[in-house]
Amino acid sequence: SHLAISELLKGNVAVDSQVTIKGWIRTRRDSKAGISFLAVHDGSCFDPIQAVVPNSLNNYDEVTSLTAGCSVSVTGVLVQSAGQGQSYEIQANSVTVLGWVENPDSYPMSAKRHSIEYLREHAHLRPRTNMIGAVTRVRNCLAQAIHRFYHEQGFYWISTPIITASDCEGAGEMFRVSTLDMQNLPLTDKGDVDYSEDFFGKEAFLTVSGQLNGETYASAMSKIYTFGPTFRAENSNTSRHLAEFWMVEPEVAFADLEDIAKLAENMLKYVFKAVLEERRDDMEFFAQRVEKTAITRLEEFVDKDFAQVDYTDAVEILKNCGKKFEYAVEWGVDLQSEHERYLAEEHFKAPVVIKNYPRDIKAFYMRQNEDGKTVAAMDVVAPGIGEIIGGSQREERLDVLDARLEEMGLNKEDYSWYRDLRKYGSVPHSGFGLGFERLVAYVTGMGNVRDVIAFPRTKGSATY
Ligand code: 4AD
Ligand code: MG
Repeated sequence: SHLAISELLKGNVAVDSQVTIKGWIRTRRDSKAGISFLAVHDGSCFDPIQAVVPNSLNNYDEVTSLTAGCSVSVTGVLVQSAGQGQSYEIQANSVTVLGWVENPDSYPMSAKRHSIEYLREHAHLRPRTNMIGAVTRVRNCLAQAIHRFYHEQGFYWISTPIITASDCEGAGEMFRVSTLDMQNLPLTDKGDVDYSEDFFGKEAFLTVSGQLNGETYASAMSKIYTFGPTFRAENSNTSRHLAEFWMVEPEVAFADLEDIAKLAENMLKYVFKAVLEERRDDMEFFAQRVEKTAITRLEEFVDKDFAQVDYTDAVEILKNCGKKFEYAVEWGVDLQSEHERYLAEEHFKAPVVIKNYPRDIKAFYMRQNEDGKTVAAMDVVAPGIGEIIGGSQREERLDVLDARLEEMGLNKEDYSWYRDLRKYGSVPHSGFGLGFERLVAYVTGMGNVRDVIAFPRTKGSATY
């Protein structure tokens, strides 16, 4: 059996023992003295391990033909490395080539640096690069830390459906799921599905949010969260929008807006600490190559209390700050990314929770405040990224909810199950949604959400 390279580089294996590793060649260098140095990576940590291969091996001519991307199994003695920058290396006594690279000169992931756009066009090969390898490990670390955080706090993870009939956000950005007209598609085997009628017997869509379903479980299990894919036919071609993205949505019974603002703060600090502790190697790479402040800004974030501001006060700050914005601000408009970033980066110089937005720009389910003009909504806005979390206290009063549904032209029958929660043991409850790719983009400093999800889906692009 073989060992993960991370185990060797962490010093978990005794020096002088015989080890086997399996992985892919990153680089090869041959010395005049008849020794080859192979840098082999296997994804288990940022650094490759160096295998030192003497020309006494009977397949040494094969070794000197290895190029970037070839897969190998290396067996040898683990020794402390004299070379700079690496702690351990393997004195190889056998190298088996598992897979060659055809036409090394045209290997798309050759050792030179590639542009981020080029990597996007080779999404099936890009995990072999330093950068996407590091993103993948940090993304995994964040996901695991999120599950751990909620688990430790007594939340249950609920898997809400991907196919749904309701438009949670009411923004009309849904993708339809239908079997109608499928008989015209060139499928080789159409099975026994009757494609002349719609499979679900009614309109169905890909979910934009698991919240409404999440509320049903919070109304019995008290504390739940979802962590799954969500879909939006977003027309905005920006570095922050995907058509398919992952959302983390806690929903908490007996909690108000202040409670979930605190939950959001605690969660973010918890997962940032986890990354700083567990993925130092990758974060050092991001700090060197992608975003100078990648590490320091996380350290600051963990130490700082979040600022809180009412939407109404935020509008005043923005109107009086003397800065010229592309979009003018006045009470009643939705804040744009430039406004959010001004507040977080220049005014508060900290992550900010913006609360109590005008009801007219927010979704039907948000709890109406006493002033009749605003709802108990919050956005968490972070320096360097803007909106990362959106949430609210939910309207738990049936009469107020019904009035709101009617006002927005929504059909009460469509929400009968949602209204039931308000009929049977209704309680105040609150929740939020964290855009997972925005979180990963922020932590890594990668400027674009397309580079922190394996196979990005955006308008006009669904390859693979
Ligand atoms: O603010 P949003 O639309 O809120 C909701 O969907 C609520 N139902 C959540 C809840 O209360 N349970 O979306 C939540 C977050 C945003 O703050 C943003 O980080 C992310 O989801 N997000 C996107 N991320 C990538 N691509 C997109 N197209 C996104 N749209 C929203
Ligand atoms: Mg939002």
